[in-house]
Amino acid sequence: MLCNILNEEEGGIFMQKKERGQWGSRFGFLMAAAGSAVGLGNIWRFPYLAGKNGGSAFILIYIFFVIVLGISVMLTEFTIGRRAESAAVGAYKSVSKNWTFAGFLGVLTAFLIMGYYPVVGGWSLAYIFKSATGLLSQPDAIGDGFGAFITGTYEPLLFVLLFMAANIIVVVKGVAGGIEKAAKILMPLLFLLLIVIIGRGLTLEGAGAGMDFLLKPDFAAAMKGDVILTAMGQAFLSLSLGMGAMITYGSYLKKDEHMPSNAVFVSGLDTLVALMAGVAIFPALFAFGFEPDAGPGLVFVIVPMVFAKMGVIGTLFSILFFTALFVAALTSTVSLLEVVTAYFIDEHGASRQKTVIAISVVMTIFCAVSSLSLGGTMPALPFFGVGMFDFLDILTDKVFLASGGVLVTIFAGWVIKKDELKNEITNNGTMEFKLFNVWYTLVKYIIPVLVAAVAFAGMMAIEQKEVLYAGFAIIAGLAIFSKKL
Ligand code: PHE
Repeated sequence: MLCNILNEEEGGIFMQKKERGQWGSRFGFLMAAAGSAVGLGNIWRFPYLAGKNGGSAFILIYIFFVIVLGISVMLTEFTIGRRAESAAVGAYKSVSKNWTFAGFLGVLTAFLIMGYYPVVGGWSLAYIFKSATGLLSQPDAIGDGFGAFITGTYEPLLFVLLFMAANIIVVVKGVAGGIEKAAKILMPLLFLLLIVIIGRGLTLEGAGAGMDFLLKPDFAAAMKGDVILTAMGQAFLSLSLGMGAMITYGSYLKKDEHMPSNAVFVSGLDTLVALMAGVAIFPALFAFGFEPDAGPGLVFVIVPMVFAKMGVIGTLFSILFFTALFVAALTSTVSLLEVVTAYFIDEHGASRQKTVIAISVVMTIFCAVSSLSLGGTMPALPFFGVGMFDFLDILTDKVFLASGGVLVTIFAGWVIKKDELKNEITNNGTMEFKLFNVWYTLVKYIIPVLVAAVAFAGMMAIEQKEVLYAGFAIIAGLAIFSKKL
């Protein structure tokens, strides 16, 4: 009973500003932030991008962007969030009402990503069961089976529902009691699963070719303009930047946390897991004679085919692999759900329980439309010329995340006072940050230009220009109307 009351208090029913959620421990925060960062982006997207774009050459370019851009933007987001002790909207609003729209853009981006990302989360959950129930017994049917599954009507919907239910269970319990607790268990589990899978892959005969692919750069394949852009976009997506997730997570940080080292740790861990996913997949892939450039189907088609060739033990490894994918996806969607939830709690004093359930229901409806847009029996509901799934993917990845990244750095470099940033990061001079000036120069002058250039090029390359125009119309609408909210 007492426990319930306390929970409700944390949930916001009796909430005052001072009683916002806070991380219980440094380790808990690091696991939660790394949980947000490590997601489908690392295990599903990174390996196939590397496979298509020159292996280690792509990886080197990616690491360059993580170091020059990713760590700095992450530190910027932590700082903005902790300074305001408020999630994305409140953090911008507390400095300038003219910037509230940037916070809304973040919340909207999180909401829209939650309109399709959980669909893929549902697939990973489904593949845990499918692995256990004979997926691997007919290796030749794996490719067609995947196509049939994702274009089906009810089966993917069922798994979206289950996946969203898992999100609700975690986020309803709050920052320390839900998100942090789950991350402290799930992240080490994910790490362990990957290590086991890597162990198997590396000891296969012929695995060396896969390691060669990962270690010997093919610069000819990577030195194309769009590959460089892809690497930078991937850095943003993978580190959960540009949409307020790290602002929100930073807002629950205690004042005596050293944010620069936290940003380095989270970015480093995220990169490590992406590399581990590569080492988990490529050696086994090469050992069984598959090509590395399969594209988005790599994880759901080629990887099970590889496991099918391992005999009985393959079933076990397939279950472990899709469990890892599920865990990675879950800790990321939890952070997206939290971005939207925190907005309603901070700005409207809403109850956590009610908010989480209400917005999850709306998100699930979006996911259902996204899933059906891939080919279910419902009417396809064309959305700006593409299906809902692709619409949300392009809109968020290519338009909103990049815009959010430019906005957050301009905001830190040109709107907040330099001294204020310094005081926040060093906790009024009690903590050292020797590279402050390097970071500040990057954030003020270099990153906005770099990201804007990439964003512009990326947007020009969008074939469905309607999506681009819709995106800009939304941003303009937010800029005009958000001052009144
Ligand atoms: N970083 C996550 C991934 O790699 C995706 C994500 C983006 C999560 C933005 C939260 C916020 O899959």
